[in-house]
Amino acid sequence: MIYFDNSATSFPKPEIVYKKMMDLYQRFGVNPHRGNYKLSFEAGNIVEETRTLISNFFNGYGRDFVVFTFNATDSLNMAIKGLLEDGDEVITTVLEHNSVLRPLNHLKNEKNIKVTYLNIKDEEISLEELRQNLSKKTKLVIVNHISNVTGYIQDIKAIGEIIKKNSRAFFLVDASQSAGIVPIDQKDSKIDILITTGHKALYAPTGIGLLLLAPEVKIKPLRTGGSGHNSENPYQPENMPDYLEAGTLNIIGIFGLKAGIEFLIDTGIENIHKKELLLKSFLLEELRSSNFNIFTSKKDSAGIISLNSNKYSPIELATILDEAGIATRSGLHCAPLLHKSIGTFPEGTLRISFGFFNTEDEVVFLSNILKNI
Ligand SMILES: Cc1ncc(COP(=O)(O)O)c(C=O)c1O
Repeated sequence: MIYFDNSATSFPKPEIVYKKMMDLYQRFGVNPHRGNYKLSFEAGNIVEETRTLISNFFNGYGRDFVVFTFNATDSLNMAIKGLLEDGDEVITTVLEHNSVLRPLNHLKNEKNIKVTYLNIKDEEISLEELRQNLSKKTKLVIVNHISNVTGYIQDIKAIGEIIKKNSRAFFLVDASQSAGIVPIDQKDSKIDILITTGHKALYAPTGIGLLLLAPEVKIKPLRTGGSGHNSENPYQPENMPDYLEAGTLNIIGIFGLKAGIEFLIDTGIENIHKKELLLKSFLLEELRSSNFNIFTSKKDSAGIISLNSNKYSPIELATILDEAGIATRSGLHCAPLLHKSIGTFPEGTLRISFGFFNTEDEVVFLSNILKNI
């Protein structure tokens, strides 16, 4: 099978990730920090080292502010539901994934919350429109860094500056498609809440996500329970990150995330990015004289291309490709508002998403089939 569905999850993972993850799990797979024996302390030390590695990778606020979650959806639910209260206003964008849109919609039914959705022009939100919509009541601004449908990329540094200059709102960046693809500097971009998922371009397994907070962000825990210390306290201990991490950690996921980030540092994310962009421009060139409508970023964003055809539906295209042994994805990709904005609602698009392990030969194979459809 030729795999072009890396935006859904990266596959395969680098060989070294499988190896390191299994090795660490075999040697240190006990409950970290909770037992009174050396191995538990050692496992705990690896967890803390991993937090430091992650904080350094994103230039975050130190290991105490790196919270392990289950995935991006979990991080977003924790941030959105743990922060917003009656009367709050939120600004977000039409680029968002349902993991932002649905928690906001559910919360709107429960609380008196106002949500404004910024549209895009060409591929970016308007900074002026953002500035005009910021008010005293704006508690949170949520922006998708790189779209999982089109690869459209937002200038998060400029957005962070506008937010901080004109309001007291917190800035949340959904970096699910950008972490591991482009450098992200949490402090420099004034990001209060950085969320991402492990299993995409960070090359970790499924079931591990991240929530990186600025120290002044206080969110209420979505889950409460065991923390392995202060058991006499009837409530969740308020020290970070324990406040937001009830229950035993996904230790194999953390080991995988450590190995994935080490792979990114050793390989250089600029080399991975360069390769994905090369494959993307190669396919675009191949399809230049075809009849497909193509939706993708014109900038140096991720290797994501959406397309549709006037003859076949996206699902028919994906099925034809699957019969030829090529894995892609069709439909709305959990981002219905963006499809409305680019005119591809309700059928959506066929999405081709490159990864570091794709080759030019695979792209030739794909383009020959697409051109013959
Ligand atoms: C932009 C974006 N946000 C959030 C998510 C949700 O990620 P997860 O399914 O790992 O929670 C995705 C997954 O496709 C995504 O592309």
